[in-house]
Amino acid sequence: MCGIVGFTGRQQAAPILLDGLEKLEYRGYDSAGIAVAQSGVAVHGGVEGAGLTKAYSAQSGSRQTVGAARPDAQEDWQEGTGAASARSVQDGSRMTGAGSAEPSIEIVKAKGRLKVLREMTDDGRSVPGTCGIGHTRWATHGEPSVVNSHPHYAKNKRVAVVHNGIIENYQEIRDRLTKEGFSFISATDTETVAHLLDKYYAGNPIEAISRVMFRVRGSYALGILFADRPGEIYAVRKDSPLIVGRSDQGNFIASDVPAILRYTRDVCFIPNLEIVKLTDREIHFYNVDQEEVEETFSQVNWDTEAAEKGGFAHFMLKEIYEQPKAVRDTVSPRISEGHVNLEELGMSQEDLAKVSRIQMVACGSAYHVCMTAKYMVEQTARVPVDVDLASEFRYRNPVMEKDTLVIVVSQSGETADSLAALREAKKLGYRVLGIVNVVGSSIAREADSVFYTWAGPEISVATTKAYSTQLAAVYLLAIGLGRARGVIDETAEQEMTRELLRLPEKIERILEEKERIQWFANKFSHSKDIFFIGRGLDYASSLEGSLKLKEISYIHSEAYAAGELKHGTISLIEDGILVVGVATQKSLFEKLISNMVEVKSRGAYVLGVTSYGNYSMEDVANYTIYVPKTMECFAASLTVVPLQLLAYYVALGKGLDVDKPRNLAKSVTVE
Ligand code: G6P
Repeated sequence: MCGIVGFTGRQQAAPILLDGLEKLEYRGYDSAGIAVAQSGVAVHGGVEGAGLTKAYSAQSGSRQTVGAARPDAQEDWQEGTGAASARSVQDGSRMTGAGSAEPSIEIVKAKGRLKVLREMTDDGRSVPGTCGIGHTRWATHGEPSVVNSHPHYAKNKRVAVVHNGIIENYQEIRDRLTKEGFSFISATDTETVAHLLDKYYAGNPIEAISRVMFRVRGSYALGILFADRPGEIYAVRKDSPLIVGRSDQGNFIASDVPAILRYTRDVCFIPNLEIVKLTDREIHFYNVDQEEVEETFSQVNWDTEAAEKGGFAHFMLKEIYEQPKAVRDTVSPRISEGHVNLEELGMSQEDLAKVSRIQMVACGSAYHVCMTAKYMVEQTARVPVDVDLASEFRYRNPVMEKDTLVIVVSQSGETADSLAALREAKKLGYRVLGIVNVVGSSIAREADSVFYTWAGPEISVATTKAYSTQLAAVYLLAIGLGRARGVIDETAEQEMTRELLRLPEKIERILEEKERIQWFANKFSHSKDIFFIGRGLDYASSLEGSLKLKEISYIHSEAYAAGELKHGTISLIEDGILVVGVATQKSLFEKLISNMVEVKSRGAYVLGVTSYGNYSMEDVANYTIYVPKTMECFAASLTVVPLQLLAYYVALGKGLDVDKPRNLAKSVTVE
């Protein structure tokens, strides 16, 4: 999803913006741009010239200086009548305004990777100014192109805007504004915001923003520059994440913490529907009625290293290796003397005992955590668990029992569908518990209780360590619920917590054998289809293994509850096709082995994933990967690791960009 960064302070803004945008690359993007306020002195000159030279050599991009100084600049650009040399730029155009003492905004945009924007701006050095906003775009309205990339700006060049989210009524606003004489150059919903701001701006930015808030529907995180207010950034958000950071060197806005972690850990998650004004030394918050409000800042304890690759080839591999620590950090503080402590939920033992049903909702991998939870919680606490995709739950007008506890699982805490599902559940009067990784995120703030997973920042689009901590969180909840409901006794609790504390070390042992998986993965990196089968908990793990693989390797993959194979999928099995069979549950082991025999006899090549001791797997499987023994209810935490490594090495074998798979975004903040 789109990434936003803004800086106003006592250093040059553009290099900081580019650096921040790079840290947000993991969110997925197809184009990028920056806007820097020019205070009105020495805007153009030697430095600018250097930027021009660079820009002309770039493959794709556009550059304009807009502002009161050059009222005709945008028209020129639209009509392609700009400087002749601009036409030599392949995808887009570029224009700089004449020198002026008036304040203005310089905008540089490029399609493709950030490195193009870096080249165009000489790593930001050729766009002078200490206040600016930047954006990485993930196309929703309008194809990926320079003209559709952000920042967008108003026709009279007074306002520049970066946006994450979707303006749902943009067409209606666009039609209205067009009738009023505003002309649009892009196909984006964001451009309507730029024109609306322009229309309402009469010297008071907060007033103009608040009027826009009353006009637009949908979700937005906006960073805004007004040309006549150099040194000031305005920001506002509704249902899309945006944070503010402060430091001695200046103040920041960003979509996510890693973007500014290098400069500050002092951050505030902007509350929904609040407007922020930032100058180099001050930050002011306003509600939609334009009244100033106080907000508190908190210290993020993530370290900068956690957001860097630290010697690993990819964030994904690094995060796979961080799993033992992440699981340990999530589990250890919640266990004392063999007992699970769930006090942080603010639910008494009676409250927990009263839970008659659990409704879990999530998206993507977090949904697979819920699938695992269904098996685990039902066995350990004997509470019925229903699982729904958040995108389905939010629209299905669910029928739920009175004492249903709704659990929303989300790494980012910002996934649009999960947030909407949470709100729907709350509207219907249910208690909502969030299992969330990002402290202060929307789901964390809006849920009645929060159970944080302590995975630290997760950068790779394909989740690994956050997934593992979500599983750990679910185990802790299941044990706590099981005890509160009298389903498991103290001895069972002691045994389970002891084993939970051993999981990190067992994950480490799997990682030590990664070469075996790498070797195997290389043989199958050119597969067209790969299937995963399992039963019970192993089915839930198969779903995650299959998703991991398709996300980053682009190989078609499906996961099936093995018993379903005969009802259709088995017809897809051909000679040499890889089928991964996951079998850790004793009572289902023989059944799964039979399913593996069925596919093998139809030509499949079978990879078995099971626990040490289940050596009869080798009678059927062509290749077997063993994971350490654990209690069956925790097996998903171990089997997922070789499946993550399999996906990683298959994608690597294909030479793909593992951390930034095509078309995917880390945090899906639009519907
Ligand atoms: C995206 C990510 C997935 C993630 C899903 C839900 O699709 O690529 O890895 O599982 O969103 O994200 P959340 O932040 O809510 O866990």
